[in-house]
Amino acid sequence: MILVTGAAGFIGANFVLDWLAQADEPVINLDKLTYAGNLQSLESLKGDARHLFVHGDIGDRALVDKLLAEHRPRAVVNFAAESHVDRSIHGPEDFIQTNVVGTFHLLESVRAHWGSLPEAEKSGFRFLHVSTDEVYGTLGPGDAPFTETHPYEPNSPYSASKAASDHLVRAYHHTYGLPVLTTNCSNNYGPFHFPEKLIPLMIVNALAGKPLPVYGDGMQIRDWLYVKDHCSAIRRVLEAGKPGETYNVGGWNEKPNIEIVNTVCALLDELSPRADHKRYAEQITYVKDRPGHDRRYAIDATKIHRELGWKPAETFETGIRKTVQWYLENTAWVAAVQSGDYRNWIGKQYGTTA
Ligand code: NAD
Ligand code: TYD
Repeated sequence: MILVTGAAGFIGANFVLDWLAQADEPVINLDKLTYAGNLQSLESLKGDARHLFVHGDIGDRALVDKLLAEHRPRAVVNFAAESHVDRSIHGPEDFIQTNVVGTFHLLESVRAHWGSLPEAEKSGFRFLHVSTDEVYGTLGPGDAPFTETHPYEPNSPYSASKAASDHLVRAYHHTYGLPVLTTNCSNNYGPFHFPEKLIPLMIVNALAGKPLPVYGDGMQIRDWLYVKDHCSAIRRVLEAGKPGETYNVGGWNEKPNIEIVNTVCALLDELSPRADHKRYAEQITYVKDRPGHDRRYAIDATKIHRELGWKPAETFETGIRKTVQWYLENTAWVAAVQSGDYRNWIGKQYGTTA
């Protein structure tokens, strides 16, 4: 079996659902259930013995030691993190606690466990750390996309905390020989995405008749990847990646934010038109920019394609249509998310109530 941390979150939940749809290897899901952890995303696994949920913190040494000793997973996939840049600007401490200190404790538990394994199990063991392109900082308009050797230049408390965790993971390989793999992926979108991030926020606000808040001039560029393509990349790296290596994962889909928002609006015009027949794009409102806002991210995914044969299955056009459709069909999931802590957060960030 494998141990997956943070699998009640957006990408982790998609990863576990895809994993169990493709194979019968069981998953232990260790998740603290912060505001971003939502077991409803895994509702379809209720009663499925292949999914064991454990409520807890990656930084809890006693708990993680016990889980590793009891279940002897052949791999640990670490998704657990605080992940929202705007939250990291309002309050960086949780980011340091989970992303840096939590990852450190997890590595310590894994190192002790790995060290005690018999040789055959030891050589097959993997620790896969899921990270982000944001650790590389920001690009100018004509710069080449980030390769794995791009210098680390994180600009937000979120990206700085992820960069610190990447460095710890690297050091545990270099110093102790721990068989680690690191993936640095671009912006994901798709089902079960918490509606504080750009794409799901725009969908739910549009449908609720609320303003669509675009930061600054809306010309910041992100490189978008459908979440299930990220999951297939992680599976492939786990299967064939070389210990100690990092792999950049991206969809070759650079788009300015305003184009993303307009695309979402156009899809909603088609799939769920406004009652007054006006266009959803009329709800777009330019708001104050994010402090220190990175202008452009772009991933060069050549290495993972060349060495491991991975490439995304979805284009942006197919992925965004599936995503909008998913939100239209899963209003109960959205309503449940919105009734929780989400309300307080929206108020703090935008000065309104959800
Ligand atoms: P998310 O915020 O949706 O989910 C994070 C999950 O981790 C939640 O279920 C939360 O409860 C859990 N968690 C938080 N602190 C924990 C702790 N101390 N112990 C155990 N569980 C804890 O995040 P996501 O978007 O699914 O991102 C998952 C990972 O992928 C993160 O490491 C993130 O940095 C990385 N990543 C995300 C993106 C993206 O576009 N969302 C892109 C690249 C990389
Ligand atoms: P986000 O989804 O928060 O991801 P990240 O900051 O990790 O890239 O934001 C994506 C882009 O969209 C980013 O440039 C900020 C912008 N944005 C808005 O313009 N308005 C919003 O309400 C949000 C949440 C993000």
